[in-house]
Parts: sequence; structure tokens; C-alpha cells
Amino acid sequence: MLTAIKEKIVGDLAQETSLPETEILNLLEVPKSLDHGHLSLPVFSLAKQLRKAPPIIAQELAGKIGARQNPLIEKVSAVSGFVNFHLKPREFQDILLQAVHGAGDHLGHRTVGQGQTLIIDFSSPNVAKPMSIGHLRATVIGQAILNLAKTQGYKVIGLNHLGDWGVQFGKLAWAFQKWGPEYDFSARPFESLFQIYVRFHEEAEKDPSLDAAGSLVFKRLEEGDPEIQAIWKRFVDISLKEYGRLWGLLGVQHDLVRGESFYNDRLKPTEKLLEAKGLLEESEGAMVVRLDEEKLPPCLIRKSDGASLYATRDLASAIYRMEELKCDLNLYVVGEDQTLHFRQVFRVLEKMGFAWAKNCHHISFGMYRFKEGRMSTRKGNVIFLEDVLSKAIDMMKTIVEQKNPSLSSGEKDTVARQVGIGAVIFNDLANDRVKNVDFDWDRVLSFEGDSGPYVQYMNVRCLSVMRKYGKPIPKQMPAVLTTEWEKELIRLLMNFEDVLSGAFRQFKPHVLAGYLLDVCQAFGQFYHHCRVLGEAAEVEQSRMALIYCTHQVLEKGLKVLSIEAPQAM
Ligand code: ARG
Repeated sequence: MLTAIKEKIVGDLAQETSLPETEILNLLEVPKSLDHGHLSLPVFSLAKQLRKAPPIIAQELAGKIGARQNPLIEKVSAVSGFVNFHLKPREFQDILLQAVHGAGDHLGHRTVGQGQTLIIDFSSPNVAKPMSIGHLRATVIGQAILNLAKTQGYKVIGLNHLGDWGVQFGKLAWAFQKWGPEYDFSARPFESLFQIYVRFHEEAEKDPSLDAAGSLVFKRLEEGDPEIQAIWKRFVDISLKEYGRLWGLLGVQHDLVRGESFYNDRLKPTEKLLEAKGLLEESEGAMVVRLDEEKLPPCLIRKSDGASLYATRDLASAIYRMEELKCDLNLYVVGEDQTLHFRQVFRVLEKMGFAWAKNCHHISFGMYRFKEGRMSTRKGNVIFLEDVLSKAIDMMKTIVEQKNPSLSSGEKDTVARQVGIGAVIFNDLANDRVKNVDFDWDRVLSFEGDSGPYVQYMNVRCLSVMRKYGKPIPKQMPAVLTTEWEKELIRLLMNFEDVLSGAFRQFKPHVLAGYLLDVCQAFGQFYHHCRVLGEAAEVEQSRMALIYCTHQVLEKGLKVLSIEAPQAM
């Protein structure tokens, strides 16, 4: 794709500028509009060394590159401090089609991550509690970054850091022993579990002695009491089964579950290590690592009652991931409310002397904002993921019913699921993750706006033209495509590889989502202005090939976002 072209012109540029090739590859950018060519090199960084004004440098460089007559370049021009490259349309479109035909499932992939392992902690819910809409973000952003990492050649481990330990499980076990028989655990296990969870907290508000009773049961759990352990294990199993159902709907699968309880044996050694490094201090009966120099509050390692903390487990788990699993990059997809926690944990790891601490990243995200009154909640302010997903599917079913009554009822169900879920995922991923997301059902499910259904629908249109064409997709484009709409679409499609790698480098899936919308726009324009079927054979073939490339990019792009591409809608 575009990378292949950059590589074919970088040699000339390196010779004329004496900049290293890697630097030129980083500098080369894609101009916003075709008026400025396909690629552009800013020369500002050369100004100091050459003691010349950037517009002069650009002009001279354009002249020299032009004189070299690179077979890919049609025209080189200088515009203020930029050298712009206009590529030959024939070569340009051929490279696109070859890339699409040649790459198969690896379209747009790179190998930069080869030989490296990336671990990503995402969608790590807390046992016995339904996943909330907040977990939706952790889930879909995490899965998208995981998929992006795979396109860059990394070996990837998707990890569930399940919240399965702490005094609340003593309380829950106490509640289970007392009230369990009143609930139908065999028919509705997860619901029952959550009900006794809620009931315990309601009762404990009236009678604080319940908390003490729960703490005692937790002590038994910590000491390995087989009866309590069996109950706890049941909670974990019930919860994982429930989460698995929702993850299935969202196309998510973890490679590894390492809940907080997994680190129980590793906490003491972690404390020992902190002690050996002289980092552990007593403070009001608790043990802490002071982070005064970094102007952060102390990181709490052990409470005065001896209980370990969330941070202690995260220290142990980071060490496990990097030292035992030998990962090179360690990502945490967790909401912005835990920013301080991760800053503290990463800083403590640095103080412990782990050079890899700089390879740990908190991939933070903002919150959902619901339009008033559009989403009822079962209890309090929590919006459950399950409710959002089933509502999306239901609403989409009505829409599909209207739009495409000829589908069979089984097909309608499939499409409603693919499009309903896709709509929710896309609505999330289309936003820069650090920002809050507005949730407005009309926009989420719209087939026209900047939505998931719109992207899926454009792909379906490509597929339906391909079906009508009825012949194999041409391996070549016999006619050079020269209308502005064709050129713009080709230009965008050529960027797919760069978009994937850019989205990965910033850990920002919205870069890809926004790009897919641009491709759809450009395709819409092209399809509106350019006739395909029934044109002269050479034009028809070239345009069919272009439609095929569009379909491939849309489908592969959706897949990276974990959104299905329906065959019809
Ligand atoms: N269970 C936590 C929550 O639901 C998220 C865990 C994130 N991962 C971690 N290593 N701390 O808020």
C-alpha cells in the first residue's frame, strides 16, 4: 500500500537530503487533499542545518527529486515548506489492487511487533456484579487495541484480571449460607448471586454486625477453609459463565484469566522485595511506599489489619507479566478514575528498579453520558451492559423488519444482532477514548449518520454490486481511473496500512473508526457519480476492482474493531 510507495521514493530523498531513511519515513505525511499530492515531506527540520528558509529548501529539493525521474512520480511540487509528491495514477491504482489481492486476511498488516509479546488487561469485571456500561468501554476498546496489535505482528495475550478477591467475598459467602436456599441458583445463578449481594449490603446498613461476620468468613477463605473455598469457587464460575455470554456477543475472548486471587502467594515475596529495596515504610500502622518526590500520595501496600490491597496485587501482577510471562509491553484498559492508582503502581515498579516499568501503560478512557430518560436502570444509577445490548438488538430487529422484510426470520435475527451490537461498539470506538461518549439511541442505530450500521451498509452495497456483476473480480485494472471521486477513494484506500499502524501506536481505535467513515463517504460519492455495471468493459472492470478493494478495506477494518460485516441488511 502507501508504505510500499514510500519505500520506493525514500532512497532518492535520503540521497538528496542526507537524512536517514527511517526519519524520512516518519516525516512523510498524507496531505488532507489531493491538490497537495499523495505524499508530502515537511522540510522544516532541515532549515537549521542548511541555514535556509523552508520554502527555499522545498523548492530546491523538489527540483532535484523531479530530475531523478522516479518511475512512480508524476510530478513534484513545492508549496511553502513542503515538497509534494503526485504519483502516477496507473502505478498508484495497480499497487492498491495488488496489495488487496495479495494480502488476503493480512491486508494492511505490518511486522514491526514481530518477536515481541504484548499483554493487554481489559474487561476485567468484579465477580458477582453485573458488567456495567463502563465495562463496555473497557471491553470494546481493549479488544480493538488487541486486534490492532495483531495487525502489527505482536504476539498478543488478552488477559482478564478478574476481581475475585477481597473481604466482599467473605460477606457474600456469609449471605449465601444464610439466604442462598431462598433463591433459585440452578435456574438463575447469576441473578441470584447479585440479589444476595445487594441484599447483604442493604441489611448491613441496618445491622453493621453483618460486616464483622462477613470479615470472619473472609478470614476462613484466606486460610483455605474448604467449605468457604468451594462457595467462592462457585461464585467465580457462575460469574465467568455470565460474562462469557456477554463477551461472546461482543466478539471478545480472553486468552488468560488471572484473577486477583491468583497473586495470593506472590504478595509476600513482593513485599519482601519492596522491603529489600528499602521502599517500605510504616504509616499509622499500615505499610506504604512513599512517593513524595513525585508529588503523589503514598501507595498503600498493606492495611493495618494485615489485608493486602488492590495496588499490592497490581504490583505482583505486573512483575508476573513481565518477568514470568516475559512480555515486552503491558497495557491496562481501565477507566480514567483509576489514573492515580496506575501512576502510583508504575512509579513504585520504577523505584523497585524494574526498567520495564516504562513499558507499562494505562490506556485510560472517559465515561458514558446518556441522554436523559432514554435508558431506564434497574437499580440506582448503574446501567447494565446486558440491558444496552439487548435493547440494541431489539430495536434493530424492528428496523430490519421495515427495511428488509424479504429476509427470512433467521436471517433477520442474525442481522439484528450483527448490526445492533456493531452499532453499540462503533458508537463507542468512534470517539477518542479519553473523551466522554454521548449515548443517543437514534444516532447509535442510524443507517445514515456516522454510525456502525452506516459502515456495515456501505460494505453490503459493495457486496451487492459484486453479486450483480457475477464474474470473478478482475486481477488488473485495465482502465486508469481518473475522475476526482475515483482518485479520492483510491487515495484513501491506500492509507489503510498507515491508519492501522497509527491507531495502534497511539492506542486509539477511533483513528480507524473515523477512517472507515471517510472511506464510506468517498465510496458514496464515487458510486453516486460513476456508473459501474454497463460501462465499457475496461472501465467496468477497473471500477469493479475498486469496489472490491473498498469492500476489503471496510470488512477488514470492521473486523479489527470486532464488528461483524453482514452479507445483507
Ligand atoms: N476489576 C477492576 C474494575 O472493574 C478493573 C481491573 C483492572 N486491571 C487491573 N490490573 N487493575 O474496576
